[in-house]
Amino acid sequence: MLIEHLTRQLHERDAQALRRRRKVADTACAPRQQVSAEGGRSRDLLSFCSNDYLGLANHPALTAAMAEGAARYGCGSGASHLVSGHSRAHADLEQALAATQSDTIPGCEALYFCTGFMANMGLLTALGDGQAMLFADKLNHASLIDGSRLAKAKVQLYPHDRTDLLGALLETSESPVKIIVTDAVFSMDGDIAPLADLLALAERHDAYIVVDDAHGFGVLGPQGRGALAHFGLSSQRFIYMGTLGKALGVAGAFVAAHPTVIAWLVQSARPYIYTTAAPPAVAYAAGVSLALVMGEEGDRRRAHLATLGRSLHDSLAGIVEALPPIGWSAPPSDTAIHPFIVGDNETALALAAQLDALGIWVPAIRPPTVPVGTARLRISLSAGHTEADLWRLCSVLADSVETLLPP
Ligand SMILES: Cc1ncc(COP(=O)(O)O)c(C=O)c1O
Repeated sequence: MLIEHLTRQLHERDAQALRRRRKVADTACAPRQQVSAEGGRSRDLLSFCSNDYLGLANHPALTAAMAEGAARYGCGSGASHLVSGHSRAHADLEQALAATQSDTIPGCEALYFCTGFMANMGLLTALGDGQAMLFADKLNHASLIDGSRLAKAKVQLYPHDRTDLLGALLETSESPVKIIVTDAVFSMDGDIAPLADLLALAERHDAYIVVDDAHGFGVLGPQGRGALAHFGLSSQRFIYMGTLGKALGVAGAFVAAHPTVIAWLVQSARPYIYTTAAPPAVAYAAGVSLALVMGEEGDRRRAHLATLGRSLHDSLAGIVEALPPIGWSAPPSDTAIHPFIVGDNETALALAAQLDALGIWVPAIRPPTVPVGTARLRISLSAGHTEADLWRLCSVLADSVETLLPP
């Protein structure tokens, strides 16, 4: 019965153009990759898919650091952090990560998690006890949604970026512990949350703010210190989550917050406590990446990424302007994420398939990852791209769009 039930659901997904499929990357994460479709042969693709925004995932300094970390600490950590798996590499990394937020969250400490998904689940379930109320943006990432669902706290959703409606919810809330929960950079749109307005609301209503900066850490702000630094904000009301598997090119995540918050997470964040600590070599390589990201090489890569972002937006806007009024859009973005919104799932899939046939890899993003009727190509840039790569993407995209227009 189970197999029949699942088969029916898979067929339904096929019928709605919602079935997800994987490709196999045969070479390292980079703009030019050899990739095999499921069961297919390996081909060269120009990729605009990864979150490796600074192009570091395959940087020689990081691959060397991973090898050196493994030579020093071995492969596995052997146990969870609270038993015996907390290595010198993890401890040093936490100190360096806390320093990145010392201006934005004075006196903060940091805690390293195996992944961003686990950090968000741990954070929200540990802080969102029965006394608390979580106020969450409707477009938050799946890990924040699932963390909120699993928390004992009541959850109130507010429409994307509607700080006026959030203010009204906070005003009427009688909960003694109020926590606003938001992505800093929304992962499928690339827009940045109005963090200064959220902080003003938090101060007015004695609330705290969980900020998921998975896509901003390393990219935004001076030295890539992230979204809070980008806006020059500073408050102990922030509980900051940054990831190390995107712009930093390695893996893992951290929470930076008031020392009491961190102390509480060590006691009660179950995805921190009940899992084997990430390999120390990963933490060691992440530390080397952090130094690189915060230094001159990071600055150069961020500057190049910003230039590419402006060019890409101009070209995408040009493609949309040339279209008849069919509701497609390419909203502006100050981040490395550029959506090209086409609406229905079939069109998004057809467009991605046309690009793929011409050697360009861009993912079609469909519900439930984005709201129904807003299926899109999610174009993500890396500092490893060149202007020529963008030109190729946009000329192939413009031609593909032509073939999909109604006659
Ligand atoms: C906004 C956001 N938060 C959290 C995560 C999870 O991070 P990780 O990939 O390290 O699990 C992601 C991953 O895509 C994300 O986009």
